[in-house]
Amino acid sequence: MNEMLGPAWTAFISVLVVVNIIGCLWLIWWTARPRVGEEAEGAEKNHVWDEDLKELNNPMPRWWLNLFVITVVFALGYLVFFPGLGNFAGTLGWSQSGQHDQRLATVQAQRDAFYATFDGRDVVELAGDLDAVQAASRLFADNCAGCHGPSGQGALGFPNLADKDWLYGHEPAQIVASIANGRQGVMPPFLATLDPAVADDLIALVSNWKEPPLPQARRAAAEQKFKVTCAACHGQDARGNPLLGAPNLSDDIWLHGGSTEQIRQTVMFGRQGAMPAHKQRLSETEIRLLAAYVYRLSGQADQ
Ligand code: HEC
Ligand code: HEC
Repeated sequence: MNEMLGPAWTAFISVLVVVNIIGCLWLIWWTARPRVGEEAEGAEKNHVWDEDLKELNNPMPRWWLNLFVITVVFALGYLVFFPGLGNFAGTLGWSQSGQHDQRLATVQAQRDAFYATFDGRDVVELAGDLDAVQAASRLFADNCAGCHGPSGQGALGFPNLADKDWLYGHEPAQIVASIANGRQGVMPPFLATLDPAVADDLIALVSNWKEPPLPQARRAAAEQKFKVTCAACHGQDARGNPLLGAPNLSDDIWLHGGSTEQIRQTVMFGRQGAMPAHKQRLSETEIRLLAAYVYRLSGQADQ
């Protein structure tokens, strides 16, 4: 910061500092000088209580004043060694940003050395290494928990990473791709293209795929409609498609909610889920560590 000060500011600050220090010294000298006359003056004013308690104007005790002198000496020494007089950097060359950079470099070196032990190691292997999982859990708390929850349990619109249900696949390579490149899931809106009665039956069908609350004939018609309209993304048997991130609709796990109202909202107005890409922000090793963490979280490491 000091480098940015102009010469006028430097002069102003330096003069101000020096004048202040001289002022302090003068104040110490002034309070330390003997003042015999003033004792009498104080007595004259009748500042006397309880018969013998008097207000006097004695000088401060010498040891007390010496503490101030020591402070002034310290300040002068400080100004020689450290920056304090405008642009003068001090003879030690210390600076706040220099100290910060140095500490940062130390931390970075420690970090690099720590992560180097995980370089080039396979996701499944890392998932079985407790040190790796612990390091990854910190990365997860910093980068992922805000959306996926502190234990990866997810929330409405944010997938649970701790179960065995996947939008984009459970293979290590698929998890790495989800984290590194991000994912965009697009469920198109059908408000404009579906007849309301047909839409009602489709919603009833997907809300309970195995036993939809529909009479036989309408159920068959709804299944037919599903094949034509929805199966291209969700699959003939509604089990989803990891290439598109189309969820399995035949189970009871819901990304956007499983009530009839929520499903209606999804089908009529569409949904867009966005998982941000992390390859710009995290190193390749950090991403592999996180993939191992998610892999383990979902219980796949135990299989
Ligand atoms: C173009 C591909 C595509 C088509 C066609 C499509 N979907 Fe989807 N659907 C998706 C995707 C992708 C998602 C996940 C959205 C996300 O990631 O947020 C989704 C999500 C859903 C969900 C929410 C699931 C959950 O777990 O909350 C429902 C319900 C759904 N679709 C029903 C349907 C129905 C019914 C049809 C046919 C009328 C249909 N979809 C047609 C791609 C499609
Ligand atoms: C801004 C919110 C957000 C952040 C931050 C975020 N995610 Fe996601 N993530 C999502 C959403 C939303 C989806 C689902 C995308 C979709 O609907 O298609 C997702 C999907 C995923 C998937 C795919 C899940 C599946 O079922 O296939 C994985 C794996 C994942 N995230 C891991 C992570 C990890 C690890 C981090 C931290 C580095 C992270 N996410 C950070 C929002 C986020």
